[in-house]
Amino acid sequence: MPAVRTWDGREYDRVSGPMEELALEVLARVELGGDETVLDAGCGSGRVTEALIERVPRGRVIAIDMSDSMVAAARGRLERFLADGGASANRTSVEVLQGDLLELELRERVDAVFSTATFHWVRDHERLFERVHAALRPGGRLVAQCGGEGNITKLRGRAREVIERDRYREAFADFEPPWNYAGAETTRERLLGAGFRWAECWLEQAPKEPADPRAFLSEIVLGPHVQHLPLELREPFMDEVLELLGEPVVVDYVRLNIDAVA
Ligand SMILES: C[S@@+](CC[C@H](N)C(=O)[O-])C[C@H]1O[C@@H](n2cnc3c(N)ncnc32)[C@H](O)[C@@H]1O
Repeated sequence: MPAVRTWDGREYDRVSGPMEELALEVLARVELGGDETVLDAGCGSGRVTEALIERVPRGRVIAIDMSDSMVAAARGRLERFLADGGASANRTSVEVLQGDLLELELRERVDAVFSTATFHWVRDHERLFERVHAALRPGGRLVAQCGGEGNITKLRGRAREVIERDRYREAFADFEPPWNYAGAETTRERLLGAGFRWAECWLEQAPKEPADPRAFLSEIVLGPHVQHLPLELREPFMDEVLELLGEPVVVDYVRLNIDAVA
């Protein structure tokens, strides 16, 4: 079984600056008139959702995430939009839902699905794309980015070196990484197989230097590793990975971009 990880919504909100930088570039690719209904698939703490809301001042945003902690953080951050149930005529209607994208079923179809830094946490891309396709109106658009083939290869290599040390080896004996870092062509084929009538996918190198590397790595990138360890080994593990990485810490992101039409 792949490692199951949890998220700390408040900590993610604090350290996810590099994710927001990446996401804003993706958001710039979404063509919107301002009155559409858009789903933010895997909204996390709502940092990026807030920027999405600005793009649809007369529209509607449905933000969904599986993690209770992320949903609570997103509801806190987006409180001013949620205050009256998102029903005000003068601003974007906003809903934050808790749910699994693999079981996605919306009351009505949306004009666009936007998603950043989420799809690589979902193992079953066939089912994921089938659910996303079913959520879109015909002609609706999916614009997404997630970790892709080759993502954090160097970083994972350094983590593996530490895992293989005597102190950690036993704890990681049953560790199966949870990520699905898919390639561009495979993803395009999966999208077409799920019913999308047009799809374009490409990989992009996007190295990032987080301001607080320890917190960024332990909450986000190496979260599955850290959470797999007993409490007393977590900080020593991070110390040893950080020592191997040296300074500055560069996260060797490779992102998979997705544009598709339902
Ligand atoms: C790294 S965060 C990304 C948050 C935000 N989109 C961003 O760009 O900062 C990944 C999010 O995906 C969510 N997630 C992972 N698998 C999911 C699933 N199957 N259904 C819904 N949310 C999921 C996690 O709970 C987490 O909040």
